Amino acid sequence: MENNNTRRNFLKQTAILSTGTIIGSSLFNSAFAAETNSIADGLNVEEEKVSAVDGYTLPNLAYAYDGLEPHIDKATMEIHHKKHHQGYVTNLNKAIETLDKKLMEHTDTLEHIFEKMSKFPEAVRNNSGGHYNHSLFWTLMKPKGGGNPKGNLAAAIMSTFGSFDEFKKQFSDASMKRFGSGWAWLVVQDGKLVIGSTANQDNPLMRLRGKGLRGKPVLALDVWEHAYYLKNQNRRADYVSSFWNVVDWDKAESLFNS
Ligand SMILES: [Fe+2]
Repeated sequence: MENNNTRRNFLKQTAILSTGTIIGSSLFNSAFAAETNSIADGLNVEEEKVSAVDGYTLPNLAYAYDGLEPHIDKATMEIHHKKHHQGYVTNLNKAIETLDKKLMEHTDTLEHIFEKMSKFPEAVRNNSGGHYNHSLFWTLMKPKGGGNPKGNLAAAIMSTFGSFDEFKKQFSDASMKRFGSGWAWLVVQDGKLVIGSTANQDNPLMRLRGKGLRGKPVLALDVWEHAYYLKNQNRRADYVSSFWNVVDWDKAESLFNS
């Protein structure tokens, strides 16, 4: 309890001292920062910035657990959100409690954590990624979704991949070839659309050592078995195929335009 109070007081002080700069972008003097701020806007991370003082919290879904039926089943959605995502949130808060003050100073937002990702312990990396990735993933799906991308994103997909079918093929391949657990992504990297994948709960916003996918997320697909095993068992390809029926292309388009 004493530790919680210490951390809470510390983060409150940090939030008060830097309210103007955290909500604005002057703490983020890089393209990376501008990108993460726009994603943050889409995810209501500003709300997270406030709640992070007392710990990160699980965001609500914008649709019912059975809203993506028959493509993604109710039981999977409920367990995925209430158990798996909640687990990342809970464990992120626990992991933050163990940090020294210097590192704790950078945990007021997920963006700050990603910016200095390589300095944090494994537990913060896994659980901050888990929280961010799932928060984004839920918003990229909707009931009666699917169809074709729109506007500027559709034009960029056509010019980069030649056709929507070719784009779907390459994104599906990235989803299938990710060995074990991870995520498939469509990102904007140096002004261009790039498809790739990350392992575990890593994401393209994390500043990590070594080569890895970097960029601003436009589309994300969770390919952990927990995302499909109840309905599809080991058939990841069926799950990836179902995903195309629930994609919220309006959301993807807004991420691309931001
Ligand atoms: Fe997941």
